[in-house]
Amino acid sequence: MNYRHGFHAGNAADVFKHYVLCLILTSLKAKPAPFFVLDSHAGAGGYRFSPGGEQEWGIGRLWKERARWPALAEYLRIVAHHNPADGRLMRYPGSPLIVRALLRPEDRATFVERHPEEHAALHALLKDDQRLAVHLGDGWKLINAFTPPPEHRGLVLIDPPYEQRSDFDEVAQALARGRRHWRGGIYCAWYPIKSGEPVRTFLRTVSQFAPEALAVHLFTLPRDVDNRLNGSGLLIINPPWKLGSTLTTSLPPLASRLAHDARHGHVMIAPAGEMARAMGRR
Ligand SMILES: C[S@@+](CC[C@H](N)C(=O)[O-])C[C@H]1O[C@@H](n2cnc3c(N)ncnc32)[C@H](O)[C@@H]1O
Repeated sequence: MNYRHGFHAGNAADVFKHYVLCLILTSLKAKPAPFFVLDSHAGAGGYRFSPGGEQEWGIGRLWKERARWPALAEYLRIVAHHNPADGRLMRYPGSPLIVRALLRPEDRATFVERHPEEHAALHALLKDDQRLAVHLGDGWKLINAFTPPPEHRGLVLIDPPYEQRSDFDEVAQALARGRRHWRGGIYCAWYPIKSGEPVRTFLRTVSQFAPEALAVHLFTLPRDVDNRLNGSGLLIINPPWKLGSTLTTSLPPLASRLAHDARHGHVMIAPAGEMARAMGRR
């Protein structure tokens, strides 16, 4: 339980994850029926930046030029809401604040966090909003306890710290259980890409029970160096209509901008099984 998301808040992986989260929530809002969001590994909710932090290779790269990123307008609007009006970038909204910003009065969200201090911070942040519930506990155990929701539509966001290699297995098992338990729900799981093998195994496993699941990979460092964070992925079961085509257009320029060297910004989008095979060829 050493992981604290504050050290990573606003990095390139967060920008990618939270931009896609905004797109999924926006697509859920396209229909009038209420929806439910479960964030199984929620974090503290909001983070204050320190100079020299990972945000400098993430949201920091976009901030001054944000008017030039219309595809990310909703995401950038939420980040701006949590920062001073004079344009300084001082704080970052984690997934709970992004979810809260995009819920309508009739929608609901539940957040689970296992670290007592992160949970306390999140609870303090959200306690006055009747649409939101915050639980101290084990996200792996609670996913099926909170689903399927009475709304019958919505999203489960799974964003564990990957402190242990077994987190890939935990995610695959949670998705398999979730798929049986709430077949119509959208599931979105984030994962780091440091070396090919755990990702390939994970994608092959998922493709066996959710062949239509979409894998989206965004790289900001060369892909052929193992054991550092070269990029990250999102595995989306029941992706909203047109999400794949929207990302095919909007992610490549984002990857180039977030990459340490624009030539190494790279995006791959494919069904999980196909992505596992493509990774085998790299
Ligand atoms: C990557 S961070 C979450 C970031 C957050 N989803 C966001 O996008 O702003 C992972 C969080 O999961 C928490 N965590 C670790 N194991 C957990 C578990 N079994 N159940 C719930 N939370 C857990 C960690 O304390 C950490 O705050």
